[in-house]
Amino acid sequence: MLNIVVFGAPGSGKGTQSDAIKSHFNLFHISTGDVLRQEIALDTETGRIAKKYIDGGQLVPDDIIIEVLAHVLDKLDHQDGVIFDGFPRTVVQAEALDRMLEKRGQRVDALVDLQVPEELLVERVLNRSKVSGRSDDNEEAVRQRLEVYKSRTIPVMEYYRAMGKHIPINGVGDINEISQGIISALEQKLNRKV
Ligand code: AP5
Ligand code: MG
Repeated sequence: MLNIVVFGAPGSGKGTQSDAIKSHFNLFHISTGDVLRQEIALDTETGRIAKKYIDGGQLVPDDIIIEVLAHVLDKLDHQDGVIFDGFPRTVVQAEALDRMLEKRGQRVDALVDLQVPEELLVERVLNRSKVSGRSDDNEEAVRQRLEVYKSRTIPVMEYYRAMGKHIPINGVGDINEISQGIISALEQKLNRKV
């Protein structure tokens, strides 16, 4: 079992890179942003609550998102493990994830931290806004998402770094080269453990 957190600011490439590396390790990709957008599309109660936060570039409250994630994990068929994309985003979520995995005899093995300069992040998201249809892909919301990332989400990286699980990756450049860099960094780290 291998559980990887793909971490980074809005627009850093979490979704792109999770898609690119999941088949190499045979992992199931969970994007909490995608799960919430699906709830919104289905007009569920969770979706209606989440929309208010997402549109303003704010985090959905911890208790709601933790419940959403627990539900997804409970439904999972056997895989070799999970890529968590966009979760955890607060230290409370990280502690909850650790508990959920521990109950299954598992743990977070590594946190892949995609590092991209702020102005490039904004440029990527605004560029994507032309095709994404995402209500939070506009300048005001993305600036707010970046503020939230800095104040509430960076501590998650520090939480896992203190456990020796942090893998910094330069998220600028050719998408395939970044994927190869992630795969070799992960293989190196995981082999070193055994
Ligand atoms: P979420 O959907 O997770 O959005 P995000 O974190 O803001 O990140 P994005 O999905 O915008 O970017 P990404 O890092 O996946 O980059 P991508 O690969 O798309 O969350 C949305 C909202 O949901 C949150 O704000 C919050 O409200 C709520 N939420 C979700 N999870 C939550 C949680 N755990 N707790 C509370 N609330 C939660 O790439 C971006 C663009 O750049 C794409 O167009 C891509 O093609 C391009 N690109 C990627 N890599 C490169 C490259 N190397 N070079 C050039 N372009 C590139
Ligand atoms: Mg994404």
